[in-house]
Amino acid sequence: MKKRVLTGIRPTGNLHLGHYFGTVQNWVNLQDEYDMYIEIADVQALTDNFDNPEKIRKNVNELTLDLLSVGLEPSKVTIFIQSMIPEIAELTIYYSNLVTMARLYRNPTVKTEIAQKKAIFGNNGESVTYGFVGYPVSQAADITCFKGECIPVGDDQLPLIEQTREIVRKFNSIYNFNMTEPNALTGKNSRIKGLDGNEKMGKSLGNAIYLVDDENTINKKIMSALTDTKKIKANDPANPEVCMVYYYHKLVNKDNLGTVCKECKSGSRGCVNCKKELINKMNEFLNPFREKRKYYENNMNEVYKIFQSGTNKAKNEASENIKEIKHAMKIDYYE
Ligand code: TRP
Repeated sequence: MKKRVLTGIRPTGNLHLGHYFGTVQNWVNLQDEYDMYIEIADVQALTDNFDNPEKIRKNVNELTLDLLSVGLEPSKVTIFIQSMIPEIAELTIYYSNLVTMARLYRNPTVKTEIAQKKAIFGNNGESVTYGFVGYPVSQAADITCFKGECIPVGDDQLPLIEQTREIVRKFNSIYNFNMTEPNALTGKNSRIKGLDGNEKMGKSLGNAIYLVDDENTINKKIMSALTDTKKIKANDPANPEVCMVYYYHKLVNKDNLGTVCKECKSGSRGCVNCKKELINKMNEFLNPFREKRKYYENNMNEVYKIFQSGTNKAKNEASENIKEIKHAMKIDYYE
């Protein structure tokens, strides 16, 4: 039997190269080997977007189109919408007794995010909501509601998996149960830097290349990418290691990397030509995604069917599992 993979993603915007090389490419590789569930985490997205429901609604579709465009196949993966499975919310309530407030506040992911979101949660986090502080509990419900065994996530999510493991151990010991402790599956992939050289690619940083960017946008973005600032003239030798154009050549132009590097160092390659080559390679890389996306955009009914069948399957699974859980908690009264 294939092992169960459960992962989730918040529908807050389109996927960019950071998402792709950081996590989503890994999901595509796992889909043959594992029984894979992918949750569109709309409820979790609302924890810090509660006042912007249109944004989340719109991005459920956008994100799903992105996921299908990179080659996740509906015949292999179960894609479902979190809010359509009330069992997850129910389980969150049961688990909330097993976690202290102090432990949640100490969770490194939560702590960092509260500090980053001053605009919503106040300078010292004084306006942070109950729902936001508690989202690791709901993530534990996401995972265990479907008996997730392997959780493919980026490094930033490890404290959340650890929190889930603690909840599982506590649940098992109190209610004499045998829930599986999930393990994180971290790929070899790392974080992708932004066009400006920032360590992180992100929407709020304005330095991202999106999978949906058209040729014109790719052209503009790559033309303005950070290069070696010490290089003044086209034939000055430069250092590729401080150049973002070379950095992206490493992602999409592996075959010609040796030449790019050598010519950059020797000064025989001007930045404009180097950028043009990258633009071509980036477009070649994005073209298959664009084509798949176009197909699904023109066949939205198919996308809705994918949601429906994935969500139905997930719902059946969740309602079976929660029965056992409620039995263990002695809150199964009558059928
Ligand atoms: N917290 C994850 C993120 O922000 C998304 C997520 C929601 C998730 N539920 C999950 C990840 C369950 C793994 C398992 O990226």
